[in-house]
Amino acid sequence: MVGIGASNLRERSETLITVENLTVEFPGPRGATVQAVSDVSFDVQAGETLGIVGESGCGKSTTAKAIIQMPEPTSGVVTYRDSDLTTLDKAELRRMRTDLQMIFQDPISALNPRRSVWDIIREGPEIWGTEDVWTEQRLVQLIESVGIDPQYRDRKPFQFSGGQCQRIGIARALALDPEVLICDEPVSALDVSVQAQILNLLDDLQTEHDLTMLFISHDLAVVRNVSDRVMVMYLGRIAEIGDADSIFDNPVHPYTTALLSAVPGSGVRDDGSLSGELPSPLDPPSGCRFHTRCSDATEVCATTVPEFTKFGADHWAACHHPQGTPVTLRDL
Ligand SMILES: Nc1ncnc2c1ncn2[C@@H]1O[C@H](COP(=O)(O)OP(=O)(O)OP(=O)(O)O)[C@@H](O)[C@H]1O
Ligand code: SF4
Ligand SMILES: [Mg+2]
Repeated sequence: MVGIGASNLRERSETLITVENLTVEFPGPRGATVQAVSDVSFDVQAGETLGIVGESGCGKSTTAKAIIQMPEPTSGVVTYRDSDLTTLDKAELRRMRTDLQMIFQDPISALNPRRSVWDIIREGPEIWGTEDVWTEQRLVQLIESVGIDPQYRDRKPFQFSGGQCQRIGIARALALDPEVLICDEPVSALDVSVQAQILNLLDDLQTEHDLTMLFISHDLAVVRNVSDRVMVMYLGRIAEIGDADSIFDNPVHPYTTALLSAVPGSGVRDDGSLSGELPSPLDPPSGCRFHTRCSDATEVCATTVPEFTKFGADHWAACHHPQGTPVTLRDL
């Protein structure tokens, strides 16, 4: 349904965002620390959709928000084009955030309830002085292109459905001419039929506006549909990352397999390996953080953090006992 082929991407591959050793911690109760994201590194290629999946609380939103420095990472480097975003001052960050726009799960509350659709969408061009580019005619076209009838432009958000509000949120983001659209569970709150419409809209707009997308969801079927590459997170760390087809068809990390097995019709046997309780990010397990729930775990898993190993042209996983053969061994 959605998403441009990864093979097309590689031909025009250009790294747009590089995240290196990103760590985000929050103050927890009684002096404890929430280890939301721990030493995460990945990159985002121009024009691709990178899907981010994992259970609730694994750090998907925090990773995405830390890219735009909301919140500022505890440590690590985020490079967008040639800028290290962690070193920018407030004014530079505000400017940069027009290039990296975000849309959210709850589309109605993301919009100012007191303003009309028209005011909401033209606010960005007004603030940034781009009204000469974003003329009334172009804004009307933008509203139409997201599937809202411009004759309703004076209505307020509460007069629209959830799906329509998400469309308005998308138009507001696009009126800033972003290069990157970060979608944080953009369809999770919507009815299934509306979900498909919004996903198709995002696909059309990605081509039309030449967007690079980060797409966060806990719904693997949705992520499979939209992503060129996918990043599987578990308790603040990356378990597996790479080409979406390779990861969905040949997952090698026991956590990815367990996640997929929980999806009806995935073809992966449900061995119940995700039944254990998710540990607290206040005190994550030592070694591989998945070892308390992993049926393949051995002693080393509890003591040593697994390194990333390559399993395909663009397929990496961090596991001591992967369910596949590393490329280096296979090539010997
Ligand atoms: N501002 C904050 N203060 C304290 N803890 C936070 C804050 N934001 C996130 N956390 C914690 O950090 C961890 C990661 O949260 P995050 O929202 O990134 O997860 P997520 O993968 O997006 O989950 P979900 O699927 O539920 O949206 C969670 O344990 C969460 O409770
Ligand atoms: S490193 Fe060990 S505990 Fe972690 S996923 Fe691999 S086998 Fe399981
Ligand atoms: Mg989230």
